[in-house]
Amino acid sequence: MTISSLGYVVVKATDLSAWETFGTEVLGMMPADAPDGKTRWLQMDERPFRIAIEQGDADRYGCAGWEVSDKQAFDALIEKLEAAGTTVERGSKSQADARCVTEIASCADPCGNHMEFYHGRVYDYRQFISPKGVSGFITGDMGLGHTVLPCPDLKAAYDFYVGLMGFGVTDHMHFKFSEDPEDPGQGLHFLHADNPRHHSLALYEAPHPAGCVHIMVETNNIDDIGYCIDRCAEHNVAITSSLGRHTNDKMLSFYMNTPAGFALEFGCDGWQVDWSTYQPTTSRLPSIWGHKWSPPE
Ligand SMILES: [Fe+2]
Repeated sequence: MTISSLGYVVVKATDLSAWETFGTEVLGMMPADAPDGKTRWLQMDERPFRIAIEQGDADRYGCAGWEVSDKQAFDALIEKLEAAGTTVERGSKSQADARCVTEIASCADPCGNHMEFYHGRVYDYRQFISPKGVSGFITGDMGLGHTVLPCPDLKAAYDFYVGLMGFGVTDHMHFKFSEDPEDPGQGLHFLHADNPRHHSLALYEAPHPAGCVHIMVETNNIDDIGYCIDRCAEHNVAITSSLGRHTNDKMLSFYMNTPAGFALEFGCDGWQVDWSTYQPTTSRLPSIWGHKWSPPE
């Protein structure tokens, strides 16, 4: 499998400090200044950053940074994408340095979602200490969590990520957010990378103005979630979905609004799958209990 994990996420912000405050005071991640003196980093573990906050004209999602196992897999992926007609831009040494990786490239999926992919990690060995006492984020080889991308042309996106990028299929879902009988609902595909996390990527059959439906980060335990719910109240951060447990990845989580206008799922207890015995499934319901949706006003 080509993609190892979701290595990082880039967000675009009109106000870098608003995102940094959200990341540190609400999420409990550790702040750091990137060497370029402009980008702000949020650290979650031993990596120099897992979320990069860059100045933008609008508050939105920037891109995912997908980790590829090695140079051979990196070059092979570029070759495969280009052979299929995808425009791939090989990044410069300074672009790779800015992301703390050895080599980097970028492209867009058929729905226009921009992405970066890379091989090789560069460490600065700054110790992660949560400023809000989060006991730890579940990351390592499983990556920072997952990202859910808007894919109005769901079939084209599915073919791209599974057929070209080499993601594995975990689960399919179709459900409605409304009670309206005329609502056709939306489909979702849950895809995994080469690690036990149930899904590192999900494709959602609808556009989203912020360029992302949500990202998910996973903590060690339920207390980390409870404290974060308290911090949301303290900082007037809208909780967009109540505490609940998902059907397919078993994640116990709640969702909050981010300064970029997409949601962030804060969870624990996610299922780590043994892919050697797993069979892809179809889920008819997103949650076993909870996850009552209340969009921000
Ligand atoms: Fe999620």
